[in-house]
Amino acid sequence: MNDSIIKLIKLPVISDDCKLAVAENSKLPFEIKRVYYIYGNENNLSRGFHAHKENQQILFCLRGSVRMIIESAEGKSECTLANPSEGIFLDQMVWHEMHDIDESTILLVIASHEYDELDYIRDHQVFIDLIKK
Ligand code: TYD
Repeated sequence: MNDSIIKLIKLPVISDDCKLAVAENSKLPFEIKRVYYIYGNENNLSRGFHAHKENQQILFCLRGSVRMIIESAEGKSECTLANPSEGIFLDQMVWHEMHDIDESTILLVIASHEYDELDYIRDHQVFIDLIKK
């Protein structure tokens, strides 16, 4: 385990009668080109199991919790996200897996690039070979 590979991004939160977390382009490691969210995981299936060549992302758990497994050239680690204002930075060439998600979990992802299947590395052995180069 190498916990230093877990890069958390903490958004500023305004607290009045609610909490309001804000993400602004100028304070993020990349410019936002895409936003998507994952919800309704009826069968509690794990997701991810890929890395991106170019795309960078920040994943927030807006509701519930998610156990993240992260692997990069620097090593492997794991953490649980449960605070909606604290996201995990998924840089280029970071293998990521999302586990223990249930139907009520909501994950929000902000991304540096629009969707491109060619940017994905979905074969773990191919990923390992690339990071060893
Ligand atoms: P994927 O990125 O593999 O999801 P996860 O990381 O949650 O496991 O995407 C799942 C499917 O959705 C896959 O067929 C590609 C498609 N998809 C899009 O069409 N556009 C998108 O922006 C994303 C993220 C996925």
